[in-house]
Amino acid sequence: MGGRPVVALTRRLPGGVERALAERFDLRLRESDDPPGADEYARWLREADGMLCAVTDSLPAELLEATPRRTRILANFGVGVNHIDLAAARRAGIAVTNTPDQLTEATADLTLGLILMTLRQLGEGERMLRAGSWRGWRPADLLGGEVHGRALGLVGFGRIGQAVARRAALGFGMPVHYVTRSRPVTPAVPAVAGVTRAESLEAMLGAVDIVSLHVPATPDTHHLFDESRLRQMRPGAWLINTARGTIVDEVALVRVLADGHLAGAGLDVFEREPAIQPELLEQPGVVLLPHMGSATAETRAAMGWRALANLEAFFAGKPVLDPVG
Ligand code: 8YV
Repeated sequence: MGGRPVVALTRRLPGGVERALAERFDLRLRESDDPPGADEYARWLREADGMLCAVTDSLPAELLEATPRRTRILANFGVGVNHIDLAAARRAGIAVTNTPDQLTEATADLTLGLILMTLRQLGEGERMLRAGSWRGWRPADLLGGEVHGRALGLVGFGRIGQAVARRAALGFGMPVHYVTRSRPVTPAVPAVAGVTRAESLEAMLGAVDIVSLHVPATPDTHHLFDESRLRQMRPGAWLINTARGTIVDEVALVRVLADGHLAGAGLDVFEREPAIQPELLEQPGVVLLPHMGSATAETRAAMGWRALANLEAFFAGKPVLDPVG
């Protein structure tokens, strides 16, 4: 016995983290950057002491509870852990960690970018230009919606929701309303002028033109935005999702876009990634991004270092930095 803990890395990581992992652990590294198959997860759970995994690694109960099992920690690269059956991990005695503080600002930046892209039709303008169909400036071309000063509603007011609120209120003069199930809000929110808690989700939806989602994917939030909720949004409003695709019923979203109830949607996440509801591709007011919320060199490196730090703490017998559950 003894020796370095065996750690399986399910995906290639940027930023020099792979090398550092290999220095500290007996690293099982895949050469391919495609998601592994279920048999590979099963093998790692039998052979590795820890696994550094990510959003594309589906780890259901039947895998996590299978025996014999050697894995004692899943260090997730990212904040969302909906791809891991946490109850099964608990039953199997497997610790789970994530990287919540590393990607807050990058994801909030992208949310504002998506709001700007969607309301100002930036993608459409660029596509027109690249296609060679721009015929020069015209007063009535590509008329989007104004962003500054427009009321924004946040569903969820955790780290990312609060970072979006700061940008929107302070930078764009947007009145920001939010709903959250936490009471009081944690971490404590420094008061920002123009950011107020709404009485209820329904009240908020009636008061804002842009709704941005910042809740985790849980059974409670699954299809939280179904057709009736989408229709509670103001006519001509926009929906922005940088959280998880399953929060929105995509078929219903297509319907409310197609009949003109909503003006558009900016989506960075989808119900069945990487598959995209084909009708979404046909909606003109929709901006679609390939799950890029945390995709900056700095943030992805920080996420990797933090996952490594969680593994190191765990195998040193210390409290992990970011326990989940
Ligand atoms: C990550 C995300 O890139 O952290 C999350 O929950 O959605 C993304 O920003 C992804 O999860 C990597 O695992």
